Amino acid sequence: MNNDIEKILYSADDIHEVAKKLGKQITADYADKNPLVVCILKGAILFMSDIVRQIDTYCELDFMSVSSYGNAQVSSGSVKIIKDLDVSVEDRNVLIIEDIIDTGQTLQTLVDLFGHRKAKSVKICTLLDKKERRVKAVKPDYIGFKVPNEFVVGYGLDYLGHYRNLPYVGILKPEIYSEN
Ligand code: PRP
Ligand code: MN
Ligand code: MG
Repeated sequence: MNNDIEKILYSADDIHEVAKKLGKQITADYADKNPLVVCILKGAILFMSDIVRQIDTYCELDFMSVSSYGNAQVSSGSVKIIKDLDVSVEDRNVLIIEDIIDTGQTLQTLVDLFGHRKAKSVKICTLLDKKERRVKAVKPDYIGFKVPNEFVVGYGLDYLGHYRNLPYVGILKPEIYSEN
């Protein structure tokens, strides 16, 4: 599986350092706010587990599973909720944890939804921000890395369901995705 990677963009150590840095900021910003930290499955699972261990204030965790890509390389534009949150966001300070913002359609949909459900505040923490491909004007509040417009996988990010378990973010060899 590691053989399919052309280049490592962000190593496990790079990611650990950035999670520590963002965790400090989040700790300061959310002291006494009891945030509801929302993981967007499946992609954000690894980042969620690392970032919450760097947050030193009371918070609650919840999980939502949404998909806009399925197995396609291009976003379908419509975001499907596969599993909704367990708790209500009404009057809560919601902090969304994402692996990547690409076109912004997933996060725009969620920010609108949580606003509609009367969240007190909604902020976004993303490991990767691929700004070049934005079609919706979502602005993350906490960003790990600004990523170039390359086919990235690993650390939660998949290609056809694979590579999520890589401990780093890397660029997939073009021959892998051109085979399909
Ligand atoms: C990916 C990624 C983000 C979203 C970003 O999820 O994890 O959630 O796409 O793309 P966008 O900004 O263009 O909406 P995907 O739909 O592939 O589901 P997954 O997390 O289960 O892989
Ligand atoms: Mn996702
Ligand atoms: Mg995906």
